[in-house]
Amino acid sequence: MADALQNYIDGKWVDAVEGGRFDVFDPSTGEVIATAADSQPADVDRAVEAARRTFDEGTWWPGTPARERGSILLRAADIVRRERDRLAALESRDVGKPIGEAGDDIDEVAFMFEYYGGWATKIAGESQHVDADAMFMVWKEPVGVAVGITPWNYPMMMAAQKVAPAIAAGCAFILKPPEQTPLTCLELPKILEEAGLPAGVFHVLTGFGETAGAPLTTHPGVDKVGFTGSREVGKIIMRSGADTLKRVTLELGGKSPNIVFADADFPAAIEGSANGVFWNQGEICSAGTRVFVDGGIYDDAVNELVDRAASVKVGDPQDETTTMGPLISKEQQERVESYLEVGASEARLAGQGATPDDPKLASGYFVPPTVFADVDNSARIAREEIFGPVMAVIPFRSVDDVVAMANDNDYGLAAAIWTNDVKKAMRTAQAIRAGIVWINDTQPAPTEMPWGGYKQSGVGRELGKHGLDDFLEEKAVYLNLAD
Ligand code: NAI
Ligand code: MG
Repeated sequence: MADALQNYIDGKWVDAVEGGRFDVFDPSTGEVIATAADSQPADVDRAVEAARRTFDEGTWWPGTPARERGSILLRAADIVRRERDRLAALESRDVGKPIGEAGDDIDEVAFMFEYYGGWATKIAGESQHVDADAMFMVWKEPVGVAVGITPWNYPMMMAAQKVAPAIAAGCAFILKPPEQTPLTCLELPKILEEAGLPAGVFHVLTGFGETAGAPLTTHPGVDKVGFTGSREVGKIIMRSGADTLKRVTLELGGKSPNIVFADADFPAAIEGSANGVFWNQGEICSAGTRVFVDGGIYDDAVNELVDRAASVKVGDPQDETTTMGPLISKEQQERVESYLEVGASEARLAGQGATPDDPKLASGYFVPPTVFADVDNSARIAREEIFGPVMAVIPFRSVDDVVAMANDNDYGLAAAIWTNDVKKAMRTAQAIRAGIVWINDTQPAPTEMPWGGYKQSGVGRELGKHGLDDFLEEKAVYLNLAD
């Protein structure tokens, strides 16, 4: 029988109040691997009450010294490292991502705890004299009760990059993991409890967006919502936070340009361009799905990219040699397949990889890695986020031409630029309206570096010091020193 997983509220494992459950699938086989608590507004109320009480009673903040909050996070990093292989296997099974990529995710989760563990003791305000008789201080205080609503493509990472800075800052925190992939998120309470986090600080509620997520975004007891997911839900969350004026940060999708200039290191640019679309099955918010290639090298590049698609090994994610697993769900598979039809009518299907013929994987949600060439930048496959291994290759003539096309999209999350000409790289980077620009690389997201989008790709930043600041308020304290 599949594991029956519970919510973690106020330091206890509990079923949903109404007792509902939902199935969690292995996307490579369609098999049910667990059931999880189907939380409803009553469960949200319990979690928010507990988090609110913990925060308001003051034993956590300011009662727990910063060095203790930091030590808890440093111990959590060690526990994640100790459990690395088990967590990677769980993540790979739940998401369908190749086991090697899942291991990289878990390594970064450990580092996130370590990184924000280091920050806890460096949260400091400032002071300034106004004149001989007056001064003020600026105190950094936690925003209070913070909520994280997270997606299924990097479940443990997307949770950790919110939980770790929240704990460093002294917030109480409620996590609503994705309904598709709750498994590693439900490991977090065990890790943090073992690391010494007091009961009541961290809570996890599983369930669906409309029933478990939405009530968190309107609840008067919640001060901040950090969301990663689709642009559509991001807009809903911004609206639903308006009545109580919550601090809302949004990490949304993208349709990121990947620009290959004729003077680039060609093999590196090809490999990077392919990885930027095919890693993690293309289920990456910052995937470089619009591959712009200089007209002079365009035909060679398309041929090479098709070779890359054909050489992707699509198969069982737990097999070390697999480089692409299934998509997350039947729904996502159908969504991506519908885009393959749209693409065939709008552009030229240049080539595709294979899906596995292993009968064990016959019910898995696989789609072939696909390259469309001669795509117009206004085509649907060049405008809309597909969230699957689908590349649109678009020719360009000049820097101005490619910058105009790159910016002609509502999204503005990331961009990759491949060239050996430093001036051209910097000029292009400056002209592009995106929160993240990689030069001669694609997709690195070190925890130290801020992450977030321009335009409709989001509001606010995660990771780095910026990701900590979003969990802090500033209190100005004015002091009259006159006799
Ligand atoms: P989604 O945006 O619906 O789900 C993300 C999270 O939000 C989940 O935890 C979900 O339960 C929650 N949620 C959904 N509706 C909500 C509501 N009304 N109030 C509060 N929380 C809510 O994303 P979904 O449906 O899983 O994927 C659809 C598309 O979104 C994908 O095909 C992709 O294009 C995009 N996406 C982008 C991601 C990114 O990293 N930027 C991650 C996941 C999806
Ligand atoms: Mg949805």
